[in-house]
Amino acid sequence: MTSKKVIAVFGATGAQGGSVAKAILESKKFAVRALTRDVTRPNALVLRDLGAEVVKGDLNDEASVEAALKDAYGAFVVTNFWDHLSKEKEVCQGKSVADIAKRLGLKHVVYSGLENVKRLTGGKLEVEHFDGKGEVEEYFWSIGVPMTSVRLAAYFENFLTMWKAVKASDGDYYTLALPMGDIPMDGISVADVGAVVSSIFNSPAEFLGKAVGLSAEALTVQQYADVLSKTLGKEVRDAKITPEAYEKLGFPGAKEMADMFRFYHMKPDRDVQLTHRLNPKVKSFSQFISENQGAVKGI
Ligand SMILES: NC(=O)c1ccc[n+]([C@@H]2O[C@H](COP(=O)([O-])OP(=O)(O)OC[C@H]3O[C@@H](n4cnc5c(N)ncnc54)[C@H](OP(=O)(O)O)[C@@H]3O)[C@@H](O)[C@H]2O)c1
Repeated sequence: MTSKKVIAVFGATGAQGGSVAKAILESKKFAVRALTRDVTRPNALVLRDLGAEVVKGDLNDEASVEAALKDAYGAFVVTNFWDHLSKEKEVCQGKSVADIAKRLGLKHVVYSGLENVKRLTGGKLEVEHFDGKGEVEEYFWSIGVPMTSVRLAAYFENFLTMWKAVKASDGDYYTLALPMGDIPMDGISVADVGAVVSSIFNSPAEFLGKAVGLSAEALTVQQYADVLSKTLGKEVRDAKITPEAYEKLGFPGAKEMADMFRFYHMKPDRDVQLTHRLNPKVKSFSQFISENQGAVKGI
């Protein structure tokens, strides 16, 4: 039997929670209770082999969350907007965890939050996958749960998937279509978030009640493109798309994403220095890309 205090990790089979669970296990200061809706998932089995207790927990099932949080010292909480695309559902899941954390008297929750953009901009911009998390942040604090919010910059991993460079139709070059103009955009590898969160759990006095913006570095689209060019061996250019043109691209969520980039133009507070202090091994975009050369060359 372990005598270590337990941290329950939501989303443990996913990108954020997986990184957090592994980093906490590595630091050996706390025991990890990994939550998943399906304890037989391969990522859940990997965590079990690394020493985590794996338990069933579904954010839509209060009793399962209450059972999973019982006797825990703390929790890392992430909700997945993209699972259901509903701000109301994300707010409902987040508030339900907050109520349970309050009832059980958890000592430290680290919540993966973001800004309530709609409120901050007086309704001018609406970014549902941010706004709901902003509401949940406020709720945690309003009911008195000892909580630190981590507000993550865009994942570098997005450049391997939805933001990958696209081959131009009129020449032997690629373009990167992110409507940022010349304004630097913060980024971080989600794999580096776990060590930051683990450090926060190790220093509650410094971080309780605070929101912490996480970023490895902020680069312009052309600077991101230059890094990709080096690895790809082909020129990658900033497509110089405007938010107005971006929102007309027609894919589901284009308007919401355009408003997210408009919000990024306002330079939300992401603290590069603090992120490096909390995880001295946090990777630059260049390091991240050189570790993922295969994926970049496969675009
Ligand atoms: N992409 C970005 O640049 C970026 C930046 C900042 C913030 N975010 C936010 O990150 C969040 C997604 O996190 P991620 O990247 O870690 O996602 P992910 O890799 O897709 O993993 C999602 C996790 O959520 C769990 N989950 C989903 N529904 C659940 C439910 N009903 N009950 C319990 N667990 C549930 C899944 O666990 P099981 O399936 O095993 O149950 C899985 O572990 C989104 O809300 C997004 O807005 C993304």
